[in-house]
Amino acid sequence: MSIRVVTVFGGTGFLGRRVVRHLREHEFSVRIASRHPDRSRKLFGSDDPCLQSVEADIRDERRVADVLAGTHAAVNAVSLYVERGQETFHSVHVEAAERVAVQAHRVGVERLAHVSGLGADAASPSLYIRKRGEGELAVKAAFTDVILFRPAVMKTKTLKRASARLDEASFCAWVNVSV
Ligand SMILES: NC(=O)c1ccc[n+]([C@@H]2O[C@H](COP(=O)([O-])OP(=O)(O)OC[C@H]3O[C@@H](n4cnc5c(N)ncnc54)[C@H](OP(=O)(O)O)[C@@H]3O)[C@@H](O)[C@H]2O)c1
Repeated sequence: MSIRVVTVFGGTGFLGRRVVRHLREHEFSVRIASRHPDRSRKLFGSDDPCLQSVEADIRDERRVADVLAGTHAAVNAVSLYVERGQETFHSVHVEAAERVAVQAHRVGVERLAHVSGLGADAASPSLYIRKRGEGELAVKAAFTDVILFRPAVMKTKTLKRASARLDEASFCAWVNVSV
């Protein structure tokens, strides 16, 4: 049986790099897509023939399609927490999320996982939460069987120690991530 390839958009991020490691531990081949593949090589090295670091901006439709070609599954773990110029919550969390889903469906990707955020709601008065909600709807419309994740704030043990003095109530919920 040939090894199955999974593309992880945002595979160098806090969550994405853990997804990449998990997939490798389960013997998937992984294509790590981000705008800075050099960071990916620094994180994961260049020795593993089943890890490929590729440059792709999810706002670039052709690049998204190219990167998804031939992959069994895809994960969208791209973030944008602060808007900057053309990088808006709408462009990344709605338009680009939809682009990944549309292209994944078009090129025959079998499974898609989309990482959204806790409380995503297209009717929210908060721009960020509204855009996450709109993004989920757009992704679902393009890729019906998408697996949606809505993580709460994630912290490593180190971060957990550092924030121990903060009022835990300020976090609506949080998830521990093993390091
Ligand atoms: N961390 C949390 O506590 C938390 C909580 C709730 C939900 N989430 C959600 O979980 C997901 C992952 O979050 P995270 O904290 O792991 O993010 P992160 O650490 O900020 O990593 C973001 C990743 O996305 C890539 N990226 C950013 N813009 C891109 C673009 N235009 N095209 C391609 N790649 C791009 C970054 O690499 P380059 O910059 O090199 O492109 C990086 O690999 C997001 O949807 C986030 O909202 C996170």
